[in-house]
Amino acid sequence: MTEHSDVPTFRPSDPPLKHLSVEFVGSFPDPGVQLTPPLPEIAFVGRSNVGKSSLLNALTGLAGLARVSSTPGKTAHVNVFRFPGFYLVDLPGYGFARASKSAREGYRRLVDGYLRKRERLAGVVWLLDIRHLPSKDDQAMQQLLIEAGTPILAVFTKADKLGREAQSAQSRALARALGLDQDHTQLVSSTSGQGIAELGASILAATGRENG
Ligand code: GTP
Ligand code: MG
Repeated sequence: MTEHSDVPTFRPSDPPLKHLSVEFVGSFPDPGVQLTPPLPEIAFVGRSNVGKSSLLNALTGLAGLARVSSTPGKTAHVNVFRFPGFYLVDLPGYGFARASKSAREGYRRLVDGYLRKRERLAGVVWLLDIRHLPSKDDQAMQQLLIEAGTPILAVFTKADKLGREAQSAQSRALARALGLDQDHTQLVSSTSGQGIAELGASILAATGRENG
């Protein structure tokens, strides 16, 4: 029998981004920062603690790539990661209760500025916790996204917190509340890996790299 243990393997269920090289470009306070070379960008937005940084780590299979914390507000700047042919951008989260007024305004300027200024923004992955209907802050974000006119994919996070039946019921309810077709939504769990491969494929498609 041939010994196959040294052969690198590739499973269909692996997240597509896992096989791409990734480099941390930097953490920028200016949402208008010039990135060189200019490439299509995909941004992650969502309320603080919704799981943006965890999702980036799950998509790449790199546990320490983006900083994850149970303390809301950990991602304070525009964090840019370069992949072959595109950038993924981890934005700070909105709407955590203990944030000061000036922190909230600072956040708003940053994200608002980012969404309006990026000429190469190819898509926004908008994260919402599967367990909660859209908050006032989510609704404000939706307004901003509509005004910015960028294609969005609504992603419902922390699916592992619910059983399968509750997952379907909640994703229907959330899609309805957002006025979105369920086809434009995706359930994910960074903990169990559910939906991660599908989301990776959608991201590649949005950047024009569907074949990896
Ligand atoms: P900010 O940077 O503050 O905006 O937060 P974030 O959206 O980047 O969230 P982060 O990835 O830091 O995760 C927040 C908390 O949720 C951490 O305690 C994570 O371990 C937890 N978490 C993230 N994703 C999941 C998931 O899929 N399932 C479960 N059960 N917990 C998760
Ligand atoms: Mg974060």
